[in-house]
Amino acid sequence: MRAHLAHLASLGVDALWLSPVHPSPNVDWGYDVADYREVHSDYGTLADYDALVAEARGHGIELWLDLVPNHTSDKHAWFSERPEYYVWSDDVPNDWKSVFTGGSAWEYDDDRKRYYLHQFAPGQPDLNWWNPDVRDEFDDILRFWFDRGVRGVRIDVAHGLIKDRELRDGVRYMRDRPEVHEIFERWQTVAREYEPKPTLMGETYVELPKLAAYEQHLDLVQNFPFLNADFEVDELLPIVETVERSFRAPLWFGSNHDHSRLATRWAGGDERKARAALFLLLTLRGTTVLYQGDELALTDDAVSASRVLDLAEPPRDPERTPLPWTASGEERHEPWLPLSDTSRNVESQRADPASTLAFVRDLIARRKQFAAEPYRTLRSAKGVWAYARGATTCVVNMTPDTAVHEGRTLAPWETLIL
Ligand code: NOJ
Repeated sequence: MRAHLAHLASLGVDALWLSPVHPSPNVDWGYDVADYREVHSDYGTLADYDALVAEARGHGIELWLDLVPNHTSDKHAWFSERPEYYVWSDDVPNDWKSVFTGGSAWEYDDDRKRYYLHQFAPGQPDLNWWNPDVRDEFDDILRFWFDRGVRGVRIDVAHGLIKDRELRDGVRYMRDRPEVHEIFERWQTVAREYEPKPTLMGETYVELPKLAAYEQHLDLVQNFPFLNADFEVDELLPIVETVERSFRAPLWFGSNHDHSRLATRWAGGDERKARAALFLLLTLRGTTVLYQGDELALTDDAVSASRVLDLAEPPRDPERTPLPWTASGEERHEPWLPLSDTSRNVESQRADPASTLAFVRDLIARRKQFAAEPYRTLRSAKGVWAYARGATTCVVNMTPDTAVHEGRTLAPWETLIL
C-alpha cells in the first residue's frame, strides 16, 4: 500500500478508507473483528500501520478506518469473558432474521444454554449497546486509533447498533432505533478532543426520508437510495434535489465492496456510461467516495464457484477482485481472488491521456474550483441533466443517443463542463 501512495496522491485523493484491518477469523472478511486494537498479521503490524499513516500524510492523504461496533467475532475474547457485552435471551424472543442466513437471528449457545443475537453470521454476535461498558470500550477504541493518527472512521451498520430494549417483533425494532443517535453524539464528543476533528461517516442503510436525521449527528452519511437507483435522470435527479433541500454535506458513491461496481451495475461495461456516472459523483455538491477501480471504469470480474470466498448469497467476490496495476499482472503473486480481466489497468491508463483514469484525475482537480458553490438544476432537453455549480455549468447526456444542450451536440453519455 505504501508503494502505491504516490499514485493515489497524483489522482488527487484526500483520504483513504480501509475496510477492517484487524485480526479476524475472516468469516466475513474482517467484519468479524477479534481484536480492535491490533492489525491482522496478513497486513503487518501496528508499526507497519504507523508507517503507512506517516507516509500517507506525507502525500497529503488521511487514513480512515472501518469501525465495526455492531458485532464482534465470536472469537473475540469478550465473547467468552464478557458475555454481558452481547444480546442474550432464554428463548427465541422475536422474528428477527439474519442478513446472511435468512434464518433466525438467534443462535443457541451450548455452554450458556441461551440464545445470542447475530444480525449477520452466527460467528458475528451483536453487541449490547444498552450496556454502558460497551460504550466505554468503544470510546477507548476510538481514542486508541485517533491517537495513532486516524482522521476518520466509516461506521459499519451505523443504523443498526442499538436494538429495541424489549426485543419486540419486526425489523423496525431491530434497526434504525431513535437511541442510536445518542451513540453518535457521544463519539462526536470523543472526536472533538482531537484537532482536526476526525470525520464520522456512517454506513446508513435507511430510506432517503430517514437519512437526514443521521446527518444531524454524523458528519457524512452513505446514501444507498442513490447507489441503488437505476442510472436514469428521472430516478437520480429527484434524489439529488431531496438531498440538496435537506442535507448539509452530501456524500455520493456508486460502488463499494458490497455492491456490483458502477461500471457493471450502472454502465453494463460501457466505459462512456461509466464516465457519465463518475462525472456526476465528482461534480455534484459534496464528498465523493470512489471504490478502488472506479477510476479505471473497472467492471466486476468473474469468480468461479471454486474460488468464492464470501459467505453472502449471491457472493460479493466479483466486485472484490484486486485492482489491476498492470496488463501483465506481474505484480500479482497469490491474489486472494482471481483477476482474469486486466484490460482496464492502472499502467495502461496512466500512459493514456484519453483514459478514464485521466478523466477522473482531471475532474478531481477541476471540482476543487467549485467545491464551495451551491447546486442548481438547470433547464435542459429530455435525457440531459444540466446543473450549475456557481458560475460553472455541468452537463451530462444521460442517454445512449446524441442530444443537444444549448446548441451543442452531445455524443451518447457525453459530459461537459462549461
Ligand atoms: C457492512 C459491510 O460493508 C459488509 O461487508 C459486512 O458484511 C456487513 N456490514 C457486516 O459487518
